[in-house]
Amino acid sequence: MNIITSPEDMQKTALALRRAGKRIGLVPTMGFLHEGHLSLIKLARRQANVVVLSIFVNPTQFGPNEDFSRYPRDFERDAALCKAAGVDIIFNPVPEAMYPAGYSVHVEENALSKGLCGASRPGHFRGVLTVVAKLFNLTLPDVAVFGQKDAQQARLIQQMARDLNFPVTIVLAPIIREADGLAKSSRNTYLSPAERREALCLQQALKTARRLYREGERDGQQIITAMKSGIEQIHSARVDYIAIVDRDKLQRVQRIEAPILVALAVQIGKTHLIDNLTLPEDGLSNLPE
Ligand code: PAF
Repeated sequence: MNIITSPEDMQKTALALRRAGKRIGLVPTMGFLHEGHLSLIKLARRQANVVVLSIFVNPTQFGPNEDFSRYPRDFERDAALCKAAGVDIIFNPVPEAMYPAGYSVHVEENALSKGLCGASRPGHFRGVLTVVAKLFNLTLPDVAVFGQKDAQQARLIQQMARDLNFPVTIVLAPIIREADGLAKSSRNTYLSPAERREALCLQQALKTARRLYREGERDGQQIITAMKSGIEQIHSARVDYIAIVDRDKLQRVQRIEAPILVALAVQIGKTHLIDNLTLPEDGLSNLPE
């Protein structure tokens, strides 16, 4: 396994691999890897000869009051996990190399990024799309794998690849959950034992949505109200949003007719958690019964 820190070296290596006819699979991450990331690596390995995993805690996607400086980092552990999972190259640049002095170009999306997490985290998706565009240009992937847990991010990256003509196939990987159903996230490490128990309210709300949908409820607001009232019972929980949107444009729907995404973000203590459910279910959300 090769570890590359310089963007120039990464691009040279990727160009040489492409010229040699290799298919490159990219798994972009911010490190502190868990089983969710390992599932992305597995998917990339199936579709590529060379797997590049980037580890970069991207400063431009964190707001001024967010957790950039305390975001968990452990490069040695990540590198060992990557090696065991069969990653070929770790790309681990420093912020100054990705955003040198005078850096001034950003990628902005003006429709899908406005609601859900985009509404409460202004600038977040501008930072995500900018860094992902740079990672695409530096690693030249044939395929790039993103997790469904960040459903809005994944949808935005598909849109960016289409609108900016990146020659890359975007592959979505199902949500990986803990044994009790909590969606895996590097941020779960922030939770105290009591908060960890209370964090189950996200998937309980999604189960409520699924039960009502299965019983034939098609009024979006009825479902949202039932989800909200469950979360309001939980001491440390504060709802950021609960939304029912169409899968393509991520626009809120009143009456559920086409495939939808039920998405929610909840603050548990100081930790911002998200989860989602696709209906009809297609395996991407992996919500337990
Ligand atoms: O999902 C993440 O970990 C990040 O948003 C990504 C895609 C690596 C961009 O920094």
